[in-house]
Amino acid sequence: MIRVGVVGVGNCASALVQGVEMYKANPELDPPVAFPTVGRYTPRDITFTSAFEIDARKVGLDLSEAIFQTPNNATVVYKPKPLGVTVRAGPALDGVPEGGLVSKIVESTTEEVVRELNSTNTEVLVNYLPTGAVKAAEAYAEAALRAGVAFVNAMPAPIATSALWQRKFSESGVPLLGDDTQNQIGATVLHKTLVRLLALRGVRVRHTYQINVGGTPDFVNLMHRRGDKEKTKTAAVKMMAAGQEFDAYISPVAYINFLGDRKIAHTLIEAEIFGGLPIRLEVTLDVHDAWNSAAVVMDSVRLAKLAIDRGVGGPLISASAWGFKNPPLHMSPEEAYRAVLEFVEGKRDK
Ligand SMILES: NC(=O)c1ccc[n+]([C@@H]2O[C@H](COP(=O)([O-])OP(=O)(O)OC[C@H]3O[C@@H](n4cnc5c(N)ncnc54)[C@H](O)[C@@H]3O)[C@@H](O)[C@H]2O)c1
Repeated sequence: MIRVGVVGVGNCASALVQGVEMYKANPELDPPVAFPTVGRYTPRDITFTSAFEIDARKVGLDLSEAIFQTPNNATVVYKPKPLGVTVRAGPALDGVPEGGLVSKIVESTTEEVVRELNSTNTEVLVNYLPTGAVKAAEAYAEAALRAGVAFVNAMPAPIATSALWQRKFSESGVPLLGDDTQNQIGATVLHKTLVRLLALRGVRVRHTYQINVGGTPDFVNLMHRRGDKEKTKTAAVKMMAAGQEFDAYISPVAYINFLGDRKIAHTLIEAEIFGGLPIRLEVTLDVHDAWNSAAVVMDSVRLAKLAIDRGVGGPLISASAWGFKNPPLHMSPEEAYRAVLEFVEGKRDK
């Protein structure tokens, strides 16, 4: 089993825990994931061992209950049995923005997080902090490093893309993946694929926008702190048409309460084909946002464990390019898929 901890018991953690436990309890179900096995690991080989929060409504509860507390509103597909994992307090730092949804905070220290990671033998820590919580992300990355635990940075704070953190994780021989999960079929991977296709066919992209609306706590937070998210999403799309200059506006623009866990992404691309003639392409994607991130995180956790087994530390280039919007090295979805297969087959180191 892969011993996994989560930082931030919000909607994404809820979907991950529900999904893993549902597939474990129902062996006849076939999870729709890109990599049914990673080495010898399947999604059913994940076991939760630790969880960290600062919201008083979640700290102290079993993880199986904490995932359903307000303000979480991820779609409920499966109610897990008690997991024997008590949600512990962690350092709050910049985790809670003004105007956010957390009113009562319970705090602890980075040392406590290190102790909990050690005492629970956690092997991989997934960072689901709110966007903008850069200091808190660094505190948990530091805790993971000190406990020798692989760090999967599912949010946009620059950790896997920071030269400093890359060096620290490389020197300690601890795997690092990130930054900012690229959903299973999210707006970013779709937008990247379209831009890549146009660039490969010699089409000149002129303007593009992607505007996202949703009804989750993540969207409440993004209305206050959208900068990092705009950066990771825009960089991901622009890298797919290297050498082309075009305008890109990519942003979460509105929290709409009645959408709940749904996210709707509207994408427009205006481009120029042979003869200088214009084309216009519009796509709308409507998804259950938190669940859309869980499959890729299951891949990331298993790839991190494979790196641990092989004694590989530092930023995992192929796994990060596959699972994250802003990896140390950008690749098209297909290149990243091939790179992950090569890593799994032992044909590349990272
Ligand atoms: N599909 C997706 O939803 C998706 C995709 C890619 C990336 N992400 C990113 O993943 C992150 C998590 O998303 P979410 O929807 O679960 O958000 P969320 O707001 O539902 O959950 C975040 C949780 O972190 C907790 N928290 C805040 N500060 C903390 C601290 N210092 N220590 C411990 N816990 C703390 C909050 O109380 C909350 O429970 C966000 O940054 C989001 O942008 C989400």
